[in-house]
Amino acid sequence: MKVIITKNYDEMSKVAAWEVAKLIKEKPDCILGLATGSTPEGMYSNLVLMNRVGQIDFSKVTSFNLDEYRGLKGDHPQSYRYFMDNKLFNHVNINKNNTFVPSGVAEDIQKECIEYDERIRNAGGIDLQVLGIGGNGHIGFNEPDSFLHMGTHLTPLTKETIEANARFFENEDEVPKEAITMGLGSIMKARKILLLANGKKKASIISKLVDGKIDTEIPASILQVHNNVIVVVDEDAAAELNLNITTNVEIVK
Ligand code: F6R
Repeated sequence: MKVIITKNYDEMSKVAAWEVAKLIKEKPDCILGLATGSTPEGMYSNLVLMNRVGQIDFSKVTSFNLDEYRGLKGDHPQSYRYFMDNKLFNHVNINKNNTFVPSGVAEDIQKECIEYDERIRNAGGIDLQVLGIGGNGHIGFNEPDSFLHMGTHLTPLTKETIEANARFFENEDEVPKEAITMGLGSIMKARKILLLANGKKKASIISKLVDGKIDTEIPASILQVHNNVIVVVDEDAAAELNLNITTNVEIVK
């Protein structure tokens, strides 16, 4: 695991965008795994700019998003499909037919989950998976639990996640209580993982992710056994890292 500590959110976003851009240049038909939430917004803005000035071309890129709220249609302003369209897809030259987000309104959820994993497999697997991290250690919506889910599945959201995401809704009651998420198996199969975190609220979980024991109650800790992970954090999110025992840390100023 390589940890890059950047000065602030802007630097974190630029470093992350460069990682994605590098891959698109090397492999124009790459398969990206994408995340929503506050953390990657700056990275998406940078990617939009790079596309606008002709530095990167999304025309052959395929993307798979991590998750979607159960019950929200793609045109709901808080759905993750809507987020992706507004933050990235509508502003770059990606073919929307090649952008996949699990359907939150599929009648047969089991079928939707199986087909989502099949689609990823048939596309050749994910080259680069972008991740944020929940304060409780969730990645995608793989919440703390006594066991890990491999494939895409329907999951109840924890009280902590519902509270954390209430900021995007009118009130907490409107936050969906379930989501469809890629499983940890799907995430771990990605050839490279880029996890982003910023702000003091993420400092404790980032130190657990990097230095803590691997524990199903901290789903992100499983990333310690993946052989190609880059964690990009700002100084606030790095505040609790023990730099003496953390090997492979690069400070970007
Ligand atoms: C979003 C996702 C979640 C978020 C996490 C952090 O697609 O999968 O795991 O990455 O909840 O959210 P923010 O970035 O809003 O702090």
